[in-house]
Amino acid sequence: MPVTVVLGTQWGDEGKGRIVDFLSGNADVVARFGGGANAGHTVRVGDKTYKLRMVPSGIVAGVEHCIIGPGTVISPAALTAELDTLEYNGVDISRLWISDLAHLIMPYHIELDKSAERERGRDALGTTGNGIGPAYVDRVARIGIRAGDLRDLRRCRQTLFARAQSLRGQGIVLDLDSAMADLDRHAQRMLPHICDTVALLHDDLKADKRVLAEGAQGSMLDVNLGTYPFVTSSETVAGGACAGLGFGPKEVDHVVGVVKAYATRVGGGPFPTEQQNEIGEQLRKRGSEFGTVTGRPRRCGWLDLVALRYAVAVNGITHLAITKLDVLDTLYELSVCTAYEESASGDSLPFVISRGATPVWKTRPGWLKPTVTARNWEDLPRNARDYIEFVEEFVGVPAAYVSVGPERSQIIVRPNAPLMPLVHTR
Ligand code: GDP
Ligand code: IMO
Ligand code: MG
Repeated sequence: MPVTVVLGTQWGDEGKGRIVDFLSGNADVVARFGGGANAGHTVRVGDKTYKLRMVPSGIVAGVEHCIIGPGTVISPAALTAELDTLEYNGVDISRLWISDLAHLIMPYHIELDKSAERERGRDALGTTGNGIGPAYVDRVARIGIRAGDLRDLRRCRQTLFARAQSLRGQGIVLDLDSAMADLDRHAQRMLPHICDTVALLHDDLKADKRVLAEGAQGSMLDVNLGTYPFVTSSETVAGGACAGLGFGPKEVDHVVGVVKAYATRVGGGPFPTEQQNEIGEQLRKRGSEFGTVTGRPRRCGWLDLVALRYAVAVNGITHLAITKLDVLDTLYELSVCTAYEESASGDSLPFVISRGATPVWKTRPGWLKPTVTARNWEDLPRNARDYIEFVEEFVGVPAAYVSVGPERSQIIVRPNAPLMPLVHTR
């Protein structure tokens, strides 16, 4: 049975976690393919809220296998803290599997991340400070430590000893004994979950299991295709799911692009449709737009259909999941960006955006009615449906899911949805 990839189409925080949780009702395996604890995926079930950082969002619904794939970078400290919180909340983590190929984030990666940000000064990227960039740098430089290396702590010590020499040149003192004591402690907790997830996934695929590949961050934060250098350090696009989990593109049947009904961005970098005014404030307030991981206020703006069309193209998106429609309920009028004044330049979109693209706006009438109780397409006000249909037509793919609130049940499933029926049986 094929894979469905669920990923962000904007600058992250589109609501991937809640969509993955919802679709997990119809999946057997949920696998994270990239990023690390820079992600914060929120799942709300009843009055309970779960904040997932590394652990796939399918853990809440209780799917058969949750996989943290080879393409991720794992902070043992952050992961063990997350596992403790999940267990405290009664979530069964026995079906969590960590790829032995995933790289580990060590405390010095976090120090390097923070010192690089300090050095950039006013040009800081606004990273989450979780050591993501430096850990991926070490992977590419072939000096990293993988989760599977925890099986041989003596070798880890040798690697750390060698790393300590080069870190000294960067002004970072690595206390080998204390680093090893921490690693030893975390290894006890992680080792029972560490395995060959590539083999596990392929066994699942052969057994016709339904697999969801859960993206982190968003397409515009992709290290190659996003608004470089204001990006994360991993491949966040659909191709990253294949490379980050170890399967071929022919396994992918659907690519669900999660898109907020407006736009947000946290951290630095260009954001053409940003509204640094009353509208932005209103969106932030109604949408509770504060970072799940860092608590930073998110920058808010109107939906950017030029960027969304680009995301549809680079990911091969087959369906959209539109989230947070309810946040727009009180607006008299909405704007969407349908072009940039500069886009005829012949340059790729990230270059156009980085030079300060000026949006060409189209206004749409608001609906001024609450949507939070809508469960069917027909329950939505006419203008809300028109807004969604305008988006669908512009980017050329259907919106299969529309969410109107953070709770698991607050979602409208259209008849064209790729995963049906969506029943939470566990
Ligand atoms: P992710 O990183 O893409 O999983 O998204 P986050 O969890 O970081 O941010 C999305 C936020 O919006 C979370 O607080 C969700 O609970 C909330 N949310 C998701 N969908 C909806 C929705 O349809 N309406 C409202 N009001 N909130 C939503
Ligand atoms: P989820 O999965 C929003 C942003 C950071 C910063 C840039 C680089 O919850 O959508 P990093 O720490 O990765 O080196 O930071 O990327 N960023 C996110 N923004 N949601 C995320 O994850 C993000 N992960 C990274 O704010 O601008
Ligand atoms: Mg998030």
